[in-house]
Amino acid sequence: MTTVRVAEGSITQYEADAVVVNLFEGVTSPGGGTGAVDQALDGAISALIADKEISGRQGEAVTIHTFGKLPAKRVVVVGLGKREKFDADAVRAVSGGVARRLRQMNVKRAATIAHGAGIGGLDAGDSAQAMAEGTLLGLYEFKRYRSRSNGSDGDDGKSLDEMVIVERDASRVQALATGAAKGALLAECAIIARDLVNEPANVVNPARMAEVATEVANDAGLPITVLGREDMIERGMGAMLAVTQGSANEPRLIIMEYTGDPENPENNVAIVGKGITFDSGGISIKPAASMWEMKGDMSGGASVIGAMKGIAALKPKINVFGVVPAVENMPSGTAQRPGDIIRAMNGKTIEVDNTDAEGRLILADAICYIKEVRKARRVVDIATLTGAVVVALGHVASGVMGTSQELVDSVLTASKSTGEKMWQLPLFEEYKRQNRSDYADVKNTGGRPAGSITAALFIGEFTEDVEWAHLDIAGTFMSERASGHVVKGATGVPTRTLVRLVEDLAEV
Ligand code: BES
Ligand code: MN
Ligand code: ZN
Repeated sequence: MTTVRVAEGSITQYEADAVVVNLFEGVTSPGGGTGAVDQALDGAISALIADKEISGRQGEAVTIHTFGKLPAKRVVVVGLGKREKFDADAVRAVSGGVARRLRQMNVKRAATIAHGAGIGGLDAGDSAQAMAEGTLLGLYEFKRYRSRSNGSDGDDGKSLDEMVIVERDASRVQALATGAAKGALLAECAIIARDLVNEPANVVNPARMAEVATEVANDAGLPITVLGREDMIERGMGAMLAVTQGSANEPRLIIMEYTGDPENPENNVAIVGKGITFDSGGISIKPAASMWEMKGDMSGGASVIGAMKGIAALKPKINVFGVVPAVENMPSGTAQRPGDIIRAMNGKTIEVDNTDAEGRLILADAICYIKEVRKARRVVDIATLTGAVVVALGHVASGVMGTSQELVDSVLTASKSTGEKMWQLPLFEEYKRQNRSDYADVKNTGGRPAGSITAALFIGEFTEDVEWAHLDIAGTFMSERASGHVVKGATGVPTRTLVRLVEDLAEV
């Protein structure tokens, strides 16, 4: 694992395999750390700018060999893009991209200046936090099952051991160090989620999900409860039981607890993540092409487990339930059928029109439980819920819906600072009729139009009067390519946003 740390000193004196400096687009004579390095190199950087070989465009990385003019062997000049568009997310992207580049170059020890903490206008702590997040998330790999290089990527066996943020101004070192430590923590939380999502479904089944949650809870000193099938029968969780009945893997309902405001038990929020460890569709089976991606249908649950680690470490003054219904959706002789009528924990009957609309079923019971038994006052659920949200928002943004505009706004605000893009969709009453059933209180599908909204409205039948927001992450849980701090495979979305949301809720 790479370490990101802060050291007081001058970037021109620092001994490392490579030194990273930066440049905004359009700047012709660099200042700050970049200017100092330019001087030490007898104006090599400004000469390359004049020759249009360095532009400062975001993502650009130009390597210059120092030939003894600096203790470091090479200097990498990274582009920060346009200053008007610059923010913490640009720092994450730049840091992730340059970290992968350094690894490819077989650099072990790198030093860098803090991106954007000078003329970029970022707070020193925010800059260092974004750098640590970007570096560690950008370097993330999932190679547990590969014994050697198979040629699918260019940097096998190489690792960047450390990235040191070098700061000349002693008064800023503490803020940078605190930010870097927070960034490293948040990256670790998102990596817990990424690992769970990248693991295949023959390894991460509901029982394994509960084991990982238990490990995280024990490390963090959080109490955890894990319910099994018998408990679900006792509590009348007919919706969760219906989804699990076709699978040989036993279901689990995981409840992690963080108590940051013991005097006010009602000052709480439940984060509830869909934990379908594999979604074959059930009897309404999915087509074979890309069905493997449904090993990631527990991404919501994975982000909840990761976020609980961060929440426990940051200690906000609020109480949090981390809830994961973990179930496998399979077709078999014991599986539920289209047309079946089931009863959720709150007594509502559901016509199962399509067994592939299973996420909303397990969330219904998990939400009933946390509301009725644990007296949750606010609920935020996170789910890879609908293909429709991919049609609406693509792979760029997660969909946000909810009955509490205040809570929805808090989610959107948190997402702006983490860079995990989200966009609100409406829950107009008019859509509700699509979920009407001729035989039961409600039907588990609402047809093709506005599929993400009708799915959310179905969950709304079970949140009832609680303050509620819903995140549909079906378009954002996986990425097809590496870009900045995002790598191919699991993204870890929205782990960092959940931690930030809880911190923000604790402050008001
Ligand atoms: N897990 C899927 C949604 C999904 C699709 C997640 C693509 C990630 C990528 C969900 O359980 C599902 O199958 N939804 C159906 C609902 C339909 C049957 C009403 C869908 O979106 O097609
Ligand atoms: Mn499904
Ligand atoms: Zn699903």
